[in-house]
Amino acid sequence: MRLVHGVGQLRQVLAGEGHVALVPTMGNLHAGHIALVERARTAGQPVVASIFVNPLQFGPGEDFQRYPRTLAEDCAQLEAAGCDLVFAPDATEVYPEAQTFQVQPPLAGELCGAYRPGHFAGVCTVVLKLFEMVRPRYAVFGKKDYQQLFLLKAMARQFNIDIELLECETRRAEDGLALSSRNGYLSCADRAEAPRLYAELNRIATALRSGASNFSEIEAASTDRLTRHGWQVDYLSVRDRHTLLPPVSAETTLVVLAAARLGATRLIDNIEI
Ligand code: PAJ
Repeated sequence: MRLVHGVGQLRQVLAGEGHVALVPTMGNLHAGHIALVERARTAGQPVVASIFVNPLQFGPGEDFQRYPRTLAEDCAQLEAAGCDLVFAPDATEVYPEAQTFQVQPPLAGELCGAYRPGHFAGVCTVVLKLFEMVRPRYAVFGKKDYQQLFLLKAMARQFNIDIELLECETRRAEDGLALSSRNGYLSCADRAEAPRLYAELNRIATALRSGASNFSEIEAASTDRLTRHGWQVDYLSVRDRHTLLPPVSAETTLVVLAAARLGATRLIDNIEI
């Protein structure tokens, strides 16, 4: 497995490769990321994983500075998973000048967009740049970041990006907590509490699957239970899977999405109905 830091060298190494499968990450890898690498391997070769903590997608006061940077451990995991190349650029390599052109995605005021202004503009911009730097045939993303995946698929369609986006199910710990680099921030007590978020999503899923349609009551009851257990809920919302907006008809396919904080740690999760 090769480790490359520069865009020039990356292009040289990948010259003539028509079936590159890319897995974009911010590092501090866990089994969820590795599942994406395995998916990438079944799609195309060589498999390229990018590791870049993208400053553009962090807001003021968010965890950009303290985001865990564990390149050596990440490379060991990637090599074991059969990754061929790691692209770990410096910020100056990705942003040699101020990024005055940016992708402005829709749904900026919805779900995580409402709580993290500029976040998805930063995500879409860096992913577009990674697509241009790596020029993959395939790119793999996780459903854990559901709104991100939704927006990246829309970006690829609307900008005629000739890359097949592949998606992977959310990997979870045994107690149901979705794996996340941010789980490492949780205190022991908060880690024990954290599975409640997915438990509430499951409770809602069960109700919806058995025909419940009083969405706002269901949302309020779950929000209430989380709040009583010490969570600060940013949102917990039943949405139409095809628009990520509140459902307008009873026939739509649904997804329930939530973001909530335990202390300073913000966790997100979702469940498709
Ligand atoms: P990061 O949080 O490192 O996630 C990288 C990829 O791993 C994303 O596609 C994410 O959805 C997926 N992922 C994370 N946790 C997962 C889990 N438990 N199960 C399955 N997949 C999981 O998402 C980003 O980085 C960045 O926003 C990025 C797209 C790299 C742009 O900077």
